[in-house]
Amino acid sequence: MEYLRVYSRQMTVVKQRAELTFKENIKKGRHGWVRLTPAYSVKLVYEILESNHNCRNVLDPFSGTGTTGLACAELGTNATLLDINPFLIWLAEVKTARYSYVDLLQTTRHANVIAEAVKTKKGGSASWTPPIHKIHRWWSSKRLATLAEIYQHICGVETTEPVRNLLLIAFCRLLIDWSNAAFNHQSMSFKNSEESLFDETKMMVSAFLANVARIVRAASKQICGKVSVYESDSRTLNVPDSAEYDCVITSPPYSNRMSYIRELRPYMYWLGYLSESREAGELDWKAIGGTWGIATSRLSSWRSRDEFQSSSLDQVVRSVATRSHVLANYIRKYMDDMYLHFSNLGPLLVDGGRLFYIVGNSKFYDTLVPVEEFYAEMMQKVGFVDISVQKIRKRNSKKELYEYLVSARK
Ligand SMILES: C[S@@+](CC[C@H](N)C(=O)[O-])C[C@H]1O[C@@H](n2cnc3c(N)ncnc32)[C@H](O)[C@@H]1O
Repeated sequence: MEYLRVYSRQMTVVKQRAELTFKENIKKGRHGWVRLTPAYSVKLVYEILESNHNCRNVLDPFSGTGTTGLACAELGTNATLLDINPFLIWLAEVKTARYSYVDLLQTTRHANVIAEAVKTKKGGSASWTPPIHKIHRWWSSKRLATLAEIYQHICGVETTEPVRNLLLIAFCRLLIDWSNAAFNHQSMSFKNSEESLFDETKMMVSAFLANVARIVRAASKQICGKVSVYESDSRTLNVPDSAEYDCVITSPPYSNRMSYIRELRPYMYWLGYLSESREAGELDWKAIGGTWGIATSRLSSWRSRDEFQSSSLDQVVRSVATRSHVLANYIRKYMDDMYLHFSNLGPLLVDGGRLFYIVGNSKFYDTLVPVEEFYAEMMQKVGFVDISVQKIRKRNSKKELYEYLVSARK
């Protein structure tokens, strides 16, 4: 496997390799249904599975958009997915579901009826819009009104859950494609929200129908592996099924203060997973590495229970603490949480079971946080063997930031 080449510490020419990021997924059928910047590339999962033929039962404890589960199911491997975010649980379930011919036919039929109703304003205008803070930064008034009408029709249509889910995926694509949000930067930005001089309703409706056609095409490709998806906290790892896993393939949150809520907010508010900003902060506090809203203020009074004792971590934390107490706590809490996760992982695996963790390092002020080294140390402390750390790609323009594959065996 090309990416599994171990790069020596002296070698600095490791490329950015966009094919190992979410960008690879965008044009790959179901993998491209809803974009999430921290999603990893399906190519990574295929390659790991190809060189580990005995993976029959895969666990992804930080499953996000469900890349691992979908890749496994496409290749006929069973997978269990866990995530703490209920919207991502819904998304992974919908992406990995099996759809009948009738489901697909009904989805297209209902989409056409909705399109006609919105174009002709049948059913009047919709009054509900999601309670997103400063919503007009996201959409102009007219675009918002069209989105609200389409959404109202999707909710009102008499149909089965799989059909409504596919229509909602098409809606998710639409709401992001017609928003002013630009995701070309980690911190996300907004273009100016100016009202168009044209009536954009017909264009939006056509875009919705095009999304539905694309989604139906991808959903018609049947998948054979069984995927179970659970909302669960991977620190405690209470997995409802009693399977024993022979492989863990995952990418946990990175310790870089990137909040999933930031990017997922529009979907989560529209689809009812969030109804006020406090809930977003609460969810981010539960998520490892989260710092959205209330999560940041809680960090300042957070006290470590020293789950993970490491002199190299002490050094990193001390160095960051000279600049920021909150960020020092952030790093310590991230490591404590990940250590809890690794401590509870062993009993879920068969003897000889393999771990594959994709993770990036991070930097706070002048201090580099070698997260990959800490993962290796944690794996060793809790009893895993054959641990290796491989640099797989450069992350962005900052020269010290890379992505790694940390692997081990039970
Ligand atoms: C880097 S993303 C995973 C992306 C995924 N590989 C994909 O391709 O979409 C990390 C995920 O971990 C989840 N997460 C954070 N804290 C968690 C926890 N305590 N338990 C379970 N999942 C958690 C986040 O919600 C996020 O979806």
